[in-house]
Amino acid sequence: MSSNEKPMQIPVVTIDGPAGVGKGTLAKKLAQMFEFNYLDSGAVYRALSVKALKEGIQLYDLDQLIELASQLSLEFPQQEGFAAHIDGENIDASLRSEECSSYASQVATISEVRKELLALQRRFQAVPGLIGDGRDLGTVVFPQAKVKIFLDASCEERAQRRYKQLIAQGISASFGHLFDSIRARDERDRARSTAPLVAAKDAMVIDSTKMSIETVVSSSAAYVRERLFME
Ligand code: C5P
Repeated sequence: MSSNEKPMQIPVVTIDGPAGVGKGTLAKKLAQMFEFNYLDSGAVYRALSVKALKEGIQLYDLDQLIELASQLSLEFPQQEGFAAHIDGENIDASLRSEECSSYASQVATISEVRKELLALQRRFQAVPGLIGDGRDLGTVVFPQAKVKIFLDASCEERAQRRYKQLIAQGISASFGHLFDSIRARDERDRARSTAPLVAAKDAMVIDSTKMSIETVVSSSAAYVRERLFME
């Protein structure tokens, strides 16, 4: 075992899938139910992006990006609804802009940056267990995870959900623009050579296109319980 690998008796549940599929909602509900730690790996790429954008670091400034990645430190306190925090400050809202989403999706294609962020993500594997969501948690970050779920839904459905969410919040939105942006991020995530978005061979795949969030949560929770506590 290499020095930065934790003993595998600390259970890990990975939830991977494309943009806007509801991985975060599912992962947070499961983390609450099982009282596990939570890792939003998308927030790791987004936090790096916010810092890079603030400092004017371009996507081709590899050395500076790696330096930033090596200094990054994030927390997702349960008492704060698992929102992303840096140095005790809630930075979650600042991670959700369109500019940040686009930069994060591009910075995530750089293999040296991904490698630099591995140790930070693996530190979240702590007692009593971890539920994490992302694109490559089951394939690259925690390949030995005991439970792997790949949550999917059609691009139309994901854009529709996002559209309804924004309208309900009183934010004006264009369905066509959301659809195009989700599809562009999907293509980049699936096509990149390092850690592409793909279901792990041992993942349970859930197509949630026609499922309610309640059904997704209850069937996932039953699967986690069975894999972690009944085998
Ligand atoms: O999940 P979220 O949309 O917040 O992720 C932001 C970006 O970070 C994604 O577009 C994706 O390209 C990247 N990402 C990744 N690997 C992860 C999590 C996120 O490449 N494990």
